[in-house]
Amino acid sequence: MSTVLVVGGAGYIGSHAVKELNRQGHSTIVLDSLIYGHREAVSSGIFIHGDMADTALLDRIFSENTIDAVMHFAAFAYVGESVTDPEKYYFNNVSNTLNLLKAMRKHRCANFIFSSTCATYGVPVEMPITENHPQNPINPYGRTKLMVESIIKDFSHAYGLKYMIFRYFNAAGADPEGAIGEDHDPETHLIPLVLRAAMSDGTVKIFGTDYDTPDGTCVRDYIHVTDLASAHILGLNRLLSGGDSDIFNLGNGNGYSVKEVIDCAEKITGKKIKSEAQGRRAGDPPVLVGDAEKAVSSLGWAPEFATLEEIVSTAWNWHRQSSTASFHRNTLI
Ligand SMILES: NC(=O)c1ccc[n+]([C@@H]2O[C@H](COP(=O)([O-])OP(=O)(O)OC[C@H]3O[C@@H](n4cnc5c(N)ncnc54)[C@H](O)[C@@H]3O)[C@@H](O)[C@H]2O)c1
Repeated sequence: MSTVLVVGGAGYIGSHAVKELNRQGHSTIVLDSLIYGHREAVSSGIFIHGDMADTALLDRIFSENTIDAVMHFAAFAYVGESVTDPEKYYFNNVSNTLNLLKAMRKHRCANFIFSSTCATYGVPVEMPITENHPQNPINPYGRTKLMVESIIKDFSHAYGLKYMIFRYFNAAGADPEGAIGEDHDPETHLIPLVLRAAMSDGTVKIFGTDYDTPDGTCVRDYIHVTDLASAHILGLNRLLSGGDSDIFNLGNGNGYSVKEVIDCAEKITGKKIKSEAQGRRAGDPPVLVGDAEKAVSSLGWAPEFATLEEIVSTAWNWHRQSSTASFHRNTLI
């Protein structure tokens, strides 16, 4: 079994990957600045509170441990903020990632697993989106991820870095055991916002109700966070057993509209959820659905949570019982 440095492992997706890595017998060292993550989301393995900008700290981590691979989840990921404050995004997502890759090269750690995004594709020209779809990101966030993809490929060519690049669609849901879940602050993702509205009698804003989709609202591809974690472990095993570097979409292949998400959440929570129609947001394509067949056929990935009901149920289970979720702190105290 291996030792994996999980950068950003106290965040939403990273903490689920850590749980799955530990469950499957891997050792983990989480490095997280806790700027957005939660210390309590990492209940096993080693936790180091620090920033990947800290070269001396990275040096120490790699010197004191034999690290077989790095999973890199740490990034800023608010698309709107990336437009108004691009420096923050290029610095953390690109420059700090370069810092991490430099430390890996110095300490001869050759296996890198990177969280990329469907935002690197930009406005889709064909659907579903395969890995060969043109990459023309339309915001700085997407551009930072595409830049890192290029850096990784160049490091691979020049220095022999081995990599898995995973382009996620919309991560959703929570650990089926209910121990961890999605707790962003601020929250911009639809499912937690809908569940928050269900808990606090709030209102969900629907941006655009006149799209060319069956019910007029945007359609997105929601992929369960535990399925993301399992793909990362398959990717890790592929690299550790000498397999080739590769790039994979991770999505569900089924699109669900905003209205379908709200209807599903009403069914699962048993509560009426108020919604309010707003105008379209600039840059929101009507439909974004990924084709993840390559991960299924090449990595043997077998996503467990196929339906929206399963995804929303796990998220609801966690939201209901968690006393650490920020919306609990904000609305119930
Ligand atoms: N959530 C999604 O739907 C989604 C979709 C596509 C891609 N992604 C990518 O997946 C990754 C994880 O997303 P998430 O939703 O779990 O985000 P998150 O904000 O919950 O987790 C990111 C973690 O990284 C940490 N971090 C940020 N900068 C750091 C730094 N310089 N040093 C150390 N730690 C740092 C944060 O404290 C946080 O714990 C991100 O790279 C994101 O861009 C997410």
